[in-house]
Amino acid sequence: MMIKRIIFATGNEGKMREVRMIMEDLGVEVLSLKEAGVAVDVEENGTTFEENAVIKATEISRLTGEVVLADDSGLEVDALNKEPGIHSARYMGYDTSYHIKNQSLIDRLEGKEGEERSARFVCVIAAAFPDGRVMTSRATMEGQIGYEERGENGFGYDPVFYLPEYQCYSGELPLEEKNKLSHRGKALRLIKEELKKLQEV
Ligand code: IMP
Repeated sequence: MMIKRIIFATGNEGKMREVRMIMEDLGVEVLSLKEAGVAVDVEENGTTFEENAVIKATEISRLTGEVVLADDSGLEVDALNKEPGIHSARYMGYDTSYHIKNQSLIDRLEGKEGEERSARFVCVIAAAFPDGRVMTSRATMEGQIGYEERGENGFGYDPVFYLPEYQCYSGELPLEEKNKLSHRGKALRLIKEELKKLQEV
């Protein structure tokens, strides 16, 4: 199967830059929703990262007849029953600043130490094809909720996410370093390998 172009279902330019960097060697044109002229807002009403990514990718593939990739991601904190999870973007309200959201996580983990602060970023990517087929990939970046916010890089919960292995916060990583380790980077490389196999048959 020859895939000529792919739509990546996001309006986030930062994600597109990351996706283009990683997908470069696939030799396929990767378009954002805007570039593809798609202006729909798909309601993510699933109960898992997988469901949400699949809903988004299949809906837009159905509308456009193109191969569509969509991602769903979030932060799981073990001591909080894996909250905020699929609700990461809307935790404490969409319009609440991440400084407040991050501080809330620090407060809710008061008295917990080391492994009791374990957390992970999760990313699931779904690929939907015009013939109705769907594939998914999932990857995580493991770490802990820190005791404070650190770093000016990244976005969202990055400043509160501590990586014990690297003894730094995710917010302190330059983009290229984060892409090597991140849930999204890893999930993208996994789905790329699957797409490569399809290109070969
Ligand atoms: P979505 O997948 O674009 O819906 O994003 C889900 C939410 O998870 C984001 O709004 C952030 O709150 C959080 N999140 C996902 N990935 C990251 C990351 O790499 N760093 C910080 N926060 C993230």
